[in-house]
Amino acid sequence: MELFEAIEKRHSYRGEFREQPVERGDLARIVEAGLKAPSGRNAQTTTFVIVDEPGTVREIAARHPTNRAVKTARAFIACVVDRAPKPVYEGHSFIVEDCAAAAENMLLAITALGYASVWIDGWLRVEGNAEKIGRLLALPPGKTVRVILPVGRPAERWPRKEKKPFGERAFFNRYPEGGQRREAGPSDG
Ligand SMILES: Cc1cc2nc3c(=O)[nH]c(=O)nc-3n(C[C@H](O)[C@H](O)[C@H](O)COP(=O)(O)O)c2cc1C
Repeated sequence: MELFEAIEKRHSYRGEFREQPVERGDLARIVEAGLKAPSGRNAQTTTFVIVDEPGTVREIAARHPTNRAVKTARAFIACVVDRAPKPVYEGHSFIVEDCAAAAENMLLAITALGYASVWIDGWLRVEGNAEKIGRLLALPPGKTVRVILPVGRPAERWPRKEKKPFGERAFFNRYPEGGQRREAGPSDG
């Protein structure tokens, strides 16, 4: 699939997955896309745990109360970061940005290979879910799960969210007064 087609097609999928397993070769290709993402100072701070062992997949799936993509996932990719990251540039660390860049690369690769996923992050921040999943994955104490991506072949069509038009969010050269557009963008018709 061509890059811009994958960008168009990627969307958060929260429906059920087919029973078909995700091939290891595909999981490795998806994570390779994450490994190739940019990172602040090339520190490559995100590490990945690929979960395809059915028992562990089921244990993670069972923890989410509602999301059917999590509940029926055939595999998960967990993005793991340091709890106390080292600064890499003038006192700053970029672990969240590094992890986000990797996650988006992987979502595009997932789409390009005909799978679907959804970025699960907010749910990890509550009720100790990140810690519980971290224990399942045998993470060392200094590491935490920042994002998980459930992966599978979608079994249903899932609505795509509307995105605001170019002119509402993107501006050439300077930000417009009051946020009003100055020039029409390519998708404004
Ligand atoms: C940082 C971040 C955290 C997110 N956390 C969750 C989450 O915990 N659960 C969930 O179902 N979706 C989560 N999402 C997915 C967003 O809800 C989704 O991207 C947004 O609604 C736009 O829809 P789209 O992905 O289909 O374009 C998250 C997305 C991002 C970027």
